[in-house]
Amino acid sequence: MLKQSNPLQIYLDHGATTPVRTEVIEAMLPYWTDVYGNPSSVHRFGQLARKGLQYARTTIAELINCRTNEIIFVGCGSESDNLALRGVMWSARKFGIGNHLITSAIEHKAVLDTASQLRDLAGFDITILPVDEFGQISLDDLTSSIRPDTVLISLMAANNEIGTIQPIEEIGAIAQERGVLFHTDAIQAAAMRDWDLNRMPFDLVSMAPHKFYGPKGIGILYARQNIELVSTLTGGGQENGRRAGTENVAFAVGTAEALRLALEERQENTIHYQALRNQLIDGIIESFSDDCKLTGHPTNRLPNNASFTFRNISGNDLIFHLDVAGISASSGSACLTGDPEPSRVLKAIGLSDEWTKGGLRLTVGKQNNEDQIEYVLKVLPDIVNRFRQIKVQVA
Ligand SMILES: Cc1ncc(COP(=O)(O)O)c(C=O)c1O
Repeated sequence: MLKQSNPLQIYLDHGATTPVRTEVIEAMLPYWTDVYGNPSSVHRFGQLARKGLQYARTTIAELINCRTNEIIFVGCGSESDNLALRGVMWSARKFGIGNHLITSAIEHKAVLDTASQLRDLAGFDITILPVDEFGQISLDDLTSSIRPDTVLISLMAANNEIGTIQPIEEIGAIAQERGVLFHTDAIQAAAMRDWDLNRMPFDLVSMAPHKFYGPKGIGILYARQNIELVSTLTGGGQENGRRAGTENVAFAVGTAEALRLALEERQENTIHYQALRNQLIDGIIESFSDDCKLTGHPTNRLPNNASFTFRNISGNDLIFHLDVAGISASSGSACLTGDPEPSRVLKAIGLSDEWTKGGLRLTVGKQNNEDQIEYVLKVLPDIVNRFRQIKVQVA
């Protein structure tokens, strides 16, 4: 099963990535050593690799209840978001069926930067919806921003920084009623809920197995049958012509195994995560009262995400000192770690400047336990108080 790599270091950054579980490694191994053919080759090595790929695709399709040709393997979560947005918008351009895309201010940069590039370099129109103090969009805002030329709505299932869950079923129902496609970035949420895509109102869904104990460097895009995507990676005709490049069979098999285990163990994991998350939230809020806020929705949030912001403290300094004390945490998005800029998510939920640089995200996982959380609760106030004392002395 899972081992903590260094028992003295407490890993609380499962929102950034997770270790690969042993069962997943074992499932992948033969696809490097024995079944190493190219799935496009006609000979038996190729056929065996193709079977592995088919097995992975069928397993995933059964787990999330969709057709096998609706699963596209891509190179990472970001690529899945990129393909959803670019693939749909370029296809709309090709067929002359619209020019407008709706997204939100707190999407991951894989969505927001792609949307901005589509606007700036190709003249697509974009509406960026605001969010409330908890990070949720308003369904009324969404409805009123839909135009006759709207092609796609892209809104995340759960936010990576503050953990807030969006009402994606309601969003999907609005999209369906108005004849607009709906993409959801479910990269943080994939293993935290059940999926029944044949019945759910989602047209495109992005997932990445490194968030649920699978390999990094592979992602999945679910795209409902009959959605034409213009390929953004051109070359060979792999993935039904939607993503060129020799398929990573080992990682595809690893993805299937990771998803199978994650969904099978979902309830027990949720209980474990929620208990540790609540222990963190209650303990931290009690210790800091006025100088610290819980960020994200108080209840409608990912079971493993406890996120906070500290007034007039640099989240990056905090993370550095926590690391020295043996605790691996993050300020929000893995991609932003080390970035001294204020968090755009914290800005979007309406926080003033004194609060937007002090983000701390603690995301628990399978191998964490109560004792580790107790240790965090003991160490964190000391670190924060030391910062405050230094500030007072300097002033
Ligand atoms: C919500 C969300 N979207 C997209 C991504 C990008 O995924 P990847 O790092 O696999 O490219 C992440 C990664 O943290 C994420 O949390």
